[in-house]
Amino acid sequence: MDIVILISGSGTNLQAIIDAIEAGRIEGRIAAVISNRPQAQGLTRARKHGIKTLVLDHTGYGTREAFDADLLQAIEQFQPGLVVLAGFMRILTDHFVDHFTGRLLNIHPSLLPKFKGLNTHQRALDAGEQEHGCSVHFVSSELDSGAVIGQCKVPVEHDDCAASLSRKVQQLEHLLYPACVQLFCSKQIQLTPDGVLYQGTTLPATGLDLT
Ligand code: GRF
Repeated sequence: MDIVILISGSGTNLQAIIDAIEAGRIEGRIAAVISNRPQAQGLTRARKHGIKTLVLDHTGYGTREAFDADLLQAIEQFQPGLVVLAGFMRILTDHFVDHFTGRLLNIHPSLLPKFKGLNTHQRALDAGEQEHGCSVHFVSSELDSGAVIGQCKVPVEHDDCAASLSRKVQQLEHLLYPACVQLFCSKQIQLTPDGVLYQGTTLPATGLDLT
């Protein structure tokens, strides 16, 4: 399956997916990596592996709609079966999300539906959570609210701070995202109106526990 990956920053999740493909753990190939930031370190990672890169600088656009329209075109030239958001720090328009529904994935650093939005690690600590983690989900038009495919969990220790939790969760992300991309590429999961279908049943709201 052809995959397009969207990034804005360091691209450690992109790297984890590249590594999984090169190790034969994902039945797919990355057709292109697209960044909205020209300086994103993830672009260098992609180029090192001979992957085509594109930059679409959002600062050159007057409206979100205009940017998303060009982004949609840029992605569709590759006719991807899957579009992966890997630290792509842009809110997407409904038109864009609707266009890619069912083949657009995101990773979020919390155990959804808990802690949508930003500062998830500090918020998990403030709430006294005993466990924390990350989720991969299909993207829907409501932020961080699409159907969850899988999660990885880590216990919150008494001496954890936001930085230590962030490090632990990032390590889990690098296991979880490739695993979920492979579930999609191997057609083991699909988005239905009821949620994520896996082995003939609809997954619970928290998806598969892939810890
Ligand atoms: C990850 O923490 C992810 O959960 C969030 O953005 C970050 C991306 O990191 N959506 P990287 O660019 O993959 O290193």
